[in-house]
Amino acid sequence: MSTSLDNRGAVDFKSIRPLINDTLPKLYIETYGCQMNVNDSEVVVSIMQNNGYSLTQDMTKADLILINTCSIRDNAEQRVWGRLDVFKQQKKKRSVLVGVIGCMAERLKNKLLEEDKVVDIVVGPDAYRDLPNLVHGAEGGQKGINVLLSREETYADLSPVRLDQNGVTAFVSIMRGCNKMCTYCVVPYTRGGERSRDPHTILREVQELADNGYKEVTLLGQNVDSYLWINPENQDEEVNFAALLDMAAKQNPTMRFRFSTSHPKDMTDEVLKVMAAHENICKYIHLPAQSGNTRMLKQMNRGYTREWYLDRIAAIRRYMPDCAISTDIIAGFCTESEEEHQDTLSLMEEVGYEFAYMFKYSERPNTKAQRTLADDVSDDVKTRRLNEIIELQNRLSLKSNQKDIGQVFEVLVEGTSKRSKEELFGRNSQNKVVVFPRKDYKIGDFVKVKINQASSATLKGESVE
Ligand code: 5AD
Ligand code: SF4
Repeated sequence: MSTSLDNRGAVDFKSIRPLINDTLPKLYIETYGCQMNVNDSEVVVSIMQNNGYSLTQDMTKADLILINTCSIRDNAEQRVWGRLDVFKQQKKKRSVLVGVIGCMAERLKNKLLEEDKVVDIVVGPDAYRDLPNLVHGAEGGQKGINVLLSREETYADLSPVRLDQNGVTAFVSIMRGCNKMCTYCVVPYTRGGERSRDPHTILREVQELADNGYKEVTLLGQNVDSYLWINPENQDEEVNFAALLDMAAKQNPTMRFRFSTSHPKDMTDEVLKVMAAHENICKYIHLPAQSGNTRMLKQMNRGYTREWYLDRIAAIRRYMPDCAISTDIIAGFCTESEEEHQDTLSLMEEVGYEFAYMFKYSERPNTKAQRTLADDVSDDVKTRRLNEIIELQNRLSLKSNQKDIGQVFEVLVEGTSKRSKEELFGRNSQNKVVVFPRKDYKIGDFVKVKINQASSATLKGESVE
C-alpha cells in the first residue's frame, strides 16, 4: 500500500510554467492522498494537455477544476467535501466545470453527481483516457461519468507530465491496483485488481527522466513485491520485481532508485540481494506491519504472523545492515485488546523503525471488516493508543538519527531549506532528510555531508568535499 502523504494541494507554479499557455482553456488540479495519486495527476495533465488544455495554478482562472481524491480514511474524504464547497463558490461566480477523479469516484459516484450540484464529471482511476470526451460532453451541459475499472489499463504508453517541484526526483508507476484484500482497505475496490506494466515502457520512462536531468526515480505500486509481467507474446518470458529493479539499476547507473510499497508477505530475499548488489538502489524499505499481533494480522487478512514479519526484518538486516526501515501502523482495529496493542508497541521497539505513518482505524463502507467485524474500540481509546504509538516512534526516530551523528552520507539535494535560504536540504540513501549550508551547491547535486546534529525529524551537517 502506498504511503499516505495527505494533502498535496495545488501544483507548484514554477515547475509548470512551460505548460501554461494563455490562449488555451485552463485546467486547475488538486491532488489528495498517496504518491500513486500524485503520479496519476501527472498522467491526467498529460492527457488533458494532449487535448488542448494548459495548466493554471490559479483556481479563479480555470475553465476546468479537477480534484484527485483519496478514500483510504474518512478524514481524507471529508477534506474533499470541504474543497467541493470552495469550488461551488467559484461556480456561483462564473462558468467553470468541476470534475472529481480518483478513488472517491467509484464509491460516491451517485452522491457526487446527484446530491451535490457542483460536480459535472466523475472519473475513476482506470478511466482517465476518457476524460477529454467527458469534459467535452459536460461543456454541452451533459454530466459525465466513467468509473469502470480495468484489468489491463496501466497507462503504459503515456509519459506523464512532471508536476514535482524540483526537477530532480520523480515517480514512475510500475503497476496498478491491488489483490491483497486486507479486510480494512478500500483500495482493491477503488483502484481495482492488480496489473503490472510492461517493463520496456518503465525502462523507457526512466531513460527519458535521466535524459531530462532527473537524478532519482521512485518506482511505485500498491505492492511492488508482487510485480510480475508476463510477455503476452511469449508466456515463458517473465519479469518479477527483483529483475525489474536489477534492469533499471543497470540501465541507469547514475540514477538513484527507490520503490514503494513493499509487502511483508511477498518481499523475497531475491529483491534484497538485488538491492544490496547495487549502490544506486537506496537502502530504504517501507514495510507496513499494520500490527504487531498475530491475531490482529489474521483478522486484517495480512497473510503473515508477527514471527514472519520479524523474519523479513532479520533478512533485511542480514543483506543490508545499513538499511532504514519504515512502517504503517493502524491503532484500534476491530476487537483489538490492550495486550494486542502492547504487541504493536513491542514490535516497533524490536524493529526500531526509522520512520512510521500511523493511523487510527477508520471503518470504510463495504470492506470485509465493515461487513463482518465490530468497530468496537472507542474513539477515545483509539486516540490514546495512537498517541502512544506516535510517542514511541518519535523516540525511535530520534534514537536512530542520533546514531548518525559523526557519519558521512551522500545527499541528493532537492531544494532550499524552509528555515533558511542559506541552507539546502536533500535525502540520504536511507530516506532521511539532511540539512546543510548551501555554499556553492545546487539542486540536483550529490553532496557528501557529515552529520553533526539530529532531531527526530531531521539530520543536520556540513559538506565535506
Ligand atoms: N483505516 C486506517 N488506516 C488505513 N490504512 C488503510 N486502510 C485504512 C483504514 N481503513 C492505512 C494502512 C495502509 C496505509 C496507506 O493506510 O496502514 O498501509
Ligand atoms: Fe495495501 Fe492491503 Fe490496501 Fe492492498 S489491500 S492497498 S496491500 S493495505
